Amino acid sequence: MTRIFSGITPSGHLTLGNYLGALRQWVEAEHTPSDALFCVVDLHALTVEHDPARLRRLTRQNATLFLAAGLDPRRCTLFVQSHVAEHTRLSYLLECTATDGELRRMIQYREKAAKAEAAGQGVRLSLLTYPVLMAADILAYAADEVPVGEDQRQHVELTRDLAVRFNQRYGHTFTVPKATLPTVGARVMDLQDPTSKMGKSSENTAGIVYLLDEPAVITKKVMRAVTDSGEGGVVYNRAARPGVANLLDVLAACTGGDPEKLAGGYAQYGPLKRDVAEAVVELLRPLRERHAVLAADPGEVERVLREGAERARGIARPVVDRAYEAIGLLPA
Ligand code: AMP
Ligand code: TRP
Repeated sequence: MTRIFSGITPSGHLTLGNYLGALRQWVEAEHTPSDALFCVVDLHALTVEHDPARLRRLTRQNATLFLAAGLDPRRCTLFVQSHVAEHTRLSYLLECTATDGELRRMIQYREKAAKAEAAGQGVRLSLLTYPVLMAADILAYAADEVPVGEDQRQHVELTRDLAVRFNQRYGHTFTVPKATLPTVGARVMDLQDPTSKMGKSSENTAGIVYLLDEPAVITKKVMRAVTDSGEGGVVYNRAARPGVANLLDVLAACTGGDPEKLAGGYAQYGPLKRDVAEAVVELLRPLRERHAVLAADPGEVERVLREGAERARGIARPVVDRAYEAIGLLPA
């Protein structure tokens, strides 16, 4: 059976990008014959300045949204990363496999380190090593597939490199995973700045649709989306017309259509925006409703996470034990 692993960092409120790029694929994966684990990767939220109380709140909220999006704890394993010690236990061995150079090349590290420096904050060492912890997240479960959005492709490539290197040096230990990306919605862009990805930790929230935004708020954000000037009406061209292309991508992802074909149905931006707003509102409506029900019973979410962590430990333990032995550490 295909083993699937993926995670989301509780560094902000989940966005439409998280849903279309990741969560929705996860729910689909759950309905194929597979053994899937989905994780709120809280340790990754400590790599940049954070507020402890907010992190606790967001961790709970993200987990609740996993359930609200349709993940069923009877079909998959849902848990919080810091509840399973195997992640950090394996991470150290992978730090002894990765090189300083390959981590400094990671695009996300360069971008976030530059941002922290510009804000006059120190760059936490964990920001540099975080892709190694991510590799540990994946390899500890012998995952075959990692459903993620486009921005995580480079990290999954690194994970593959580390798995292959470790196996070559110390004997076959890890399954070499591959990233699986959605066909549309792999990179949802910010509605106010369509050349940047819609990210949950951006400061300017006007261009970000959050999963728990009220319908009126979603509509307002979509109607105010930046579109492109230029001749030729509504055409699908990601490079020349990023704003309109993003709206068409979102519409396609919501309705199951093809962005290029959808463009043909519109002469003006106004009607396109109205249809996008309606499609997003309808896509997220059931999720928001289920979230309200689940949030009223936090004990149930905690129970799901406790059971999930137990199951996760049972899978990761023997894999990580094998890696400790293979690398030359004396069994305890
Ligand atoms: P993050 O928000 O960085 O924790 O990402 C969690 C998951 O959502 C990863 O699989 C990302 O690739 C995906 N994701 C985040 N933002 C977007 C976006 N704007 N478009 C598509 N996927 C995204
Ligand atoms: N780094 C991912 C992100 O920022 C989150 C993540 C951490 C992850 N560990 C993972 C995703 C393991 C997939 C598999 O989006």
